Amino acid sequence: MTLFKLTLLAKACIITGLALTSPTLIAAEKTIPELVDAVNGTPDAASREAGKKVKLRNHTKGFCTSGYFAPNPELQDSLTIPFFNQSQIKVTARFSLGGTNPQISDKTPGRFMSLKIDGDKENLNFVTTNVPVFFASNLDDFFTFQTKVKQGAEGKQWLIDNKPDAKAFFDYVKQLPPSPSFANSRYFGVNSFLFTDKQNNSVAGKWIFEPVAGTAALSASELANLGDDFLKAELLQRINTQPAQWNLYIQLAESGDDINNPTVIWPETRKRLLVGQVVINGDRDSDPQVQQCDKGIFNPLLLPKGIAPSADPILNAEGSPHKSAIA
Ligand code: HEM
Repeated sequence: MTLFKLTLLAKACIITGLALTSPTLIAAEKTIPELVDAVNGTPDAASREAGKKVKLRNHTKGFCTSGYFAPNPELQDSLTIPFFNQSQIKVTARFSLGGTNPQISDKTPGRFMSLKIDGDKENLNFVTTNVPVFFASNLDDFFTFQTKVKQGAEGKQWLIDNKPDAKAFFDYVKQLPPSPSFANSRYFGVNSFLFTDKQNNSVAGKWIFEPVAGTAALSASELANLGDDFLKAELLQRINTQPAQWNLYIQLAESGDDINNPTVIWPETRKRLLVGQVVINGDRDSDPQVQQCDKGIFNPLLLPKGIAPSADPILNAEGSPHKSAIA
């Protein structure tokens, strides 16, 4: 067993307090490189080499832009997170579609938003999706899902028949209409974090970004009149005249809510705290940092004081691959 595997195993033991035979620990046998290969569809040396040549990576189709984050001053009444004690914090954003195919059509329903919020002393990164329910609750299922979807219709059917979490994910995606704009999608950080409140207690919650422009769905006739590439031009044109904005909330857990399982959606009625507003206006788009934002800089475990990761095994594996996928 490698040092890395041992570390993961130890971490899982400390965090979950589970017996050594638990599925979480079996799942923790998967290393980050194995998971990344499963995501990128590069399980052997030859396909890895080919992948590097074409710069194969997950979420290949996407683009970078910029703006700022305006924290809600009232948040300090309930939580102690000094990072949000600033008036405006610069944001580097990447909007993307899922998968490794750079030609994937924008008519597919998946929308993703990654943000890097860089303060004076601390940073906060997000990787978010418009699907609130994740397809796996542990690394073993994550690996199986990624491997099976690469096998096409047959693999997908296997998942539907054998993995209820994957089936719930596919069912959600099936009823999700494609949005006409990245600015008309909600985005979810499916994992939970622990936030420090005014009494120095830890409270669990999940990130939710609500579009100020509202959600919108493309009709069948609108879809028929669109090409496969419209999202990038639409957003860049939009922000020339008015910014794309989202209100960022923390959805708070209630006792009994499953905090460490991203396949579970908490009821929409859960109390929310308004953290602030993401304003994407393209103001720093010519900065090299923004232009090169797709070089793998989004790490959801990069957190300021007052925010800590939950014990969710997906979240705890997420940090490394989002930093460097094909290195
Ligand atoms: C074990 C868990 C996960 C693994 C192993 C994983 C793996 C990866 C990999 C390999 C990439 C490509 C990174 C790059 O080339 O720079 C990626 C990108 C991404 N992932 Fe994940 N992922 C995981 C969980 C998640 C979750 C839970 C979400 C959403 C809630 C998510 C959202 C994204 C997004 C939005 C990107 C694109 C980043 C960008 O815009 O550059 N991932 N992930």
